Amino acid sequence: MSDTTDAKPQSKAVFVKSYGCQMNVYDSQRMADVMGAEGYREVATPEEADLILLNTCHIRERAAEKVYHELGRIRELKQTAKSEGRKVLIGVAGCVAQAEGEEIVKRAKYVDLVVGPQSYHRLPDLVARAGIQPGVVDTEFPVEDKFAKLPKPAEAKARSRGISAFVTVQEGCDKFCTFCVVPYTRGAEVSRPVTAIIAEVEALAEAGVREVSLLGQNVNAYHGEGPNGGEWTLARLLRRLAEVPGILRLRYTTSHPSEMSDDLIEAHRDLGALMPSLHLPVQSGSNRILAAMNRKHDRDSYFRTIDRLRAARPDIAFSSDFIIGFPGETDADFEDTMELIRQVGFAAAYSFKYSIRPGTPGAEMDGQIDEAVKTERLYAVQALITSQQRAFQQSLVGQTIEVLFERAGRKFGQQVGRSPYLSPVQVMAPSSLAGRIERIRIIGTETNSLNGELVDPISARAVQAAE
Ligand code: SAH
Ligand code: SF4
Ligand code: F3S
Repeated sequence: MSDTTDAKPQSKAVFVKSYGCQMNVYDSQRMADVMGAEGYREVATPEEADLILLNTCHIRERAAEKVYHELGRIRELKQTAKSEGRKVLIGVAGCVAQAEGEEIVKRAKYVDLVVGPQSYHRLPDLVARAGIQPGVVDTEFPVEDKFAKLPKPAEAKARSRGISAFVTVQEGCDKFCTFCVVPYTRGAEVSRPVTAIIAEVEALAEAGVREVSLLGQNVNAYHGEGPNGGEWTLARLLRRLAEVPGILRLRYTTSHPSEMSDDLIEAHRDLGALMPSLHLPVQSGSNRILAAMNRKHDRDSYFRTIDRLRAARPDIAFSSDFIIGFPGETDADFEDTMELIRQVGFAAAYSFKYSIRPGTPGAEMDGQIDEAVKTERLYAVQALITSQQRAFQQSLVGQTIEVLFERAGRKFGQQVGRSPYLSPVQVMAPSSLAGRIERIRIIGTETNSLNGELVDPISARAVQAAE
């Protein structure tokens, strides 16, 4: 991803490091696009860069602290560069930038600029200003549309995204779960207009992308302006994107259980391109804790949603997020969570110890849980999740599934792709399969991947003949 073919001379280099969620990964790419239009080429290591951007995450205490560790290391790079007569600018972007703003330049004086997730389209100007007078901070939620100001997808087209790409369709969150910083760092829910999304997906498809993951903190609450006015739901958007030539697979993340509408469930029934894999964070299996978390769903409504999705798309697999040790969580509440996991059966799940976030209601609640208790419960939940994950991988052995191939593998003659459930799949093939979907029989599992073989040798020969 390091080379671009922009018209401007590329005398400078930018390095962007992404932390946190996939929306940050997408934003990092767009930041590189913005600076690319200014003549910066993207590089893979900070040592090569004139501008180093850390795109940060504030979701848990440890995530935020990581940034300061990394900044310490980058400070040394800046000093070394200075001793060699080179000027390096350091920028902090993303959710820590939004949450801490001025505090960052106070705590780390060598940081030249701080830019929030809603203002990074202004990067060229901020970088120019920081070059003259370090310590520039922009954490506004501007009235202008960031996406409209970013380089058009066509301009960024030369920057290959590979086979699979992210597209942010919705940002921010109005749900205010009592543990979560996102409504504060990303602001209110905003959906991008349909026309802009279609144009971006078409440009990606033309650049060779075959799989698009639509992103949003609350992606299934999407309600963007349609081409002729009126609002489109996520389901309607997915139906339209499934028609874009070249797009073979669609995904969306992250969804809120209370927003799984009937039309979205029907889209899972009707759209072959919509992958049978859904991340649906539940956080807890206890109704009492879910209410304290302000989750707006309970365990029964979650089970009902899972059942409806399974009825619509029997091969669908679920993943989820769990917060362990939320204030007031008793052994019985925790057992409810374990029981919910047993009942659903997840293909994968992430679990986190509750982390106090300043400014959120959870931070003020009574009944904060002892660290040792959190750790013990986390181990238990992780052991259960790991066993379900293994069982799911094992259940695929002997099955024939469709794999979208991405690249050559490490071994000679090996091709690597992804299953509908996102696991990497390795096969031996006579030639490149990149960008193609092939039917693959799964013959074995590795720790984090699957081994398979081409089911249809004719299709393998057809590839060979075509090349
Ligand atoms: N929008 C998504 C989640 C965004 S944050 C949703 O609504 O599900 C990703 C995950 O981080 C959450 O699902 C939650 O499990 C975890 N998380 C958020 N705040 C946390 C906190 N204070 N402590 C521990 N985990 C947290
Ligand atoms: Fe955070 Fe809840 Fe919004 Fe998800 S829905 S981003 S967990 S406030
Ligand atoms: Fe982290 Fe911000 Fe994403 S807090 S999880 S980077 S929205």
